[in-house]
Amino acid sequence: MAVKQGWGRVAAFAAMTVIGFFPPALQSAEEPVKGEDGKYMTSEGAPTYHVGSDSTVDWYTYSGYRRYHADCHTCHGPDGQGSSYAPALANSLKTLTYEQFMDVVVNGRQKVGVAENQVMPAFGNNQNVMCYIDDLYVYLKARADGAVPRGRPAKREDKSKIATQNEDSCLGRS
Ligand code: HEC
Repeated sequence: MAVKQGWGRVAAFAAMTVIGFFPPALQSAEEPVKGEDGKYMTSEGAPTYHVGSDSTVDWYTYSGYRRYHADCHTCHGPDGQGSSYAPALANSLKTLTYEQFMDVVVNGRQKVGVAENQVMPAFGNNQNVMCYIDDLYVYLKARADGAVPRGRPAKREDKSKIATQNEDSCLGRS
């Protein structure tokens, strides 16, 4: 018994040491890092949104809002709220990873075995979607996290020169 207690204490101490080894900043989610193109990235290398203390959103969140309402809202409803036809992406992105999101948008998806034919088209060959895939993702992620309200973001960061260059080359304009 005494030995057991002793090991228990050692184990607890070891666990505390391991946890204590990491400074608090590393335990919580790290602040996203802003790249030269104005895109914020998580420590895992996925694009993400940024909302300033005065509600200014990053360029990509704003752009994603516009792209979403050009190519996705007809099926998925305004502001990612969903419709009777297609799921609420503001809900889906609570669990879908960046990779899973990419996969569905590139390849499309079709529910098998249901009466209604609910089809998510494949957008892999649509440059008006693929050139803005990160924009769409960060906007919908911001909606899923409740970081931006419904509607057009009122204040946004300026578009960077590099973002313009990347867009032009993706669209084959340069
Ligand atoms: C023609 C209608 C239509 C359009 C346009 C459309 N979708 Fe979809 N989408 C669907 C349907 C229907 C589903 C559900 C398919 C299923 O369950 O297999 C779906 C599913 C998805 C999913 C998976 C959701 C989940 O919960 O797993 C994502 C992500 C998605 N769509 C993203 C987009 C994006 C981004 C756009 C715009 C570029 C878009 N969709 C445009 C019909 C559409």
